[in-house]
Amino acid sequence: MRPADLMLRKQDGLPIAMLTAWDALSAWVVAEAGADAVLVGDSLAMTVLGHGTTLPVTLDEMVHHCQASGRGLEAWRLEQLRQGLHRPVPLLICDLPFLSYQCGADEALAAAGRVLKEAPAAGVKLEGAEPETLAVIDRMVRIGIPVLGHLGLTPQSVHQLGYRRQARDPVAQERLRRQAERLEAAGCFGLVLEHVPTELARALSLDLRIPVIGIGAGDGCDGQVRVTADLLGLTSRQPPFSPPLLDGRGLAVDALRGWISAQRPARPATRPAAPAAPHC
Ligand code: KIV
Repeated sequence: MRPADLMLRKQDGLPIAMLTAWDALSAWVVAEAGADAVLVGDSLAMTVLGHGTTLPVTLDEMVHHCQASGRGLEAWRLEQLRQGLHRPVPLLICDLPFLSYQCGADEALAAAGRVLKEAPAAGVKLEGAEPETLAVIDRMVRIGIPVLGHLGLTPQSVHQLGYRRQARDPVAQERLRRQAERLEAAGCFGLVLEHVPTELARALSLDLRIPVIGIGAGDGCDGQVRVTADLLGLTSRQPPFSPPLLDGRGLAVDALRGWISAQRPARPATRPAAPAAPHC
């Protein structure tokens, strides 16, 4: 899959499924499940690295996780070929982490370049649509770096916005609508809309040419994205708008507990008596 293919999916009315991955294992599973696109999201700072927010994850760490995810997709692709299958390899996109693209266009370009050169990502995702961010996106797109936008709940702004639903009143909705239009005009190939009212997301999906991929944005979007660790019930802090499909933690703990008990066969309740000490 290429970024432009997501637009074709929208034109053909085919819903897009995007899932996150953080290493070779998760990328393989997500590809095998049939995702159109794999996002190495900076949510891995929380789900995988144990941070309280997405802010601490570094560009080096994102590149590292994206490289591993790329290897997982390559392993999956080779397995498909061996089986004579020709399923499309999901599009790999990597989040640019906090402060890797907000400190000037040159630094932002270098950060995106690392993700495309050192890891096999075919695009980057950036949060927000402030004038500086739009200028950065414009430059990236002009030199051939595909960019996915992200509006609504933008976790890199958690200290300003919190994790609550965004664009709740008409003024904020109008502002978000204008930002979305600017992202499209700047050349983004798609837009992630997180935790915004269903009707707003539905209207934007109808009005924009680029695909709108929602999370906590209702069922009227062109596609959906989820944090895979949330869907699998592996995380301790589950967002309210992304319920788990299974109790992954519980299943894993039960299976491992069973294995551990099997390594410790029940011992007799009392120790056998020690042999009597020889009399000298
Ligand atoms: O970081 C991430 O996983 C994301 C998704 C929630 C879209 O941005």
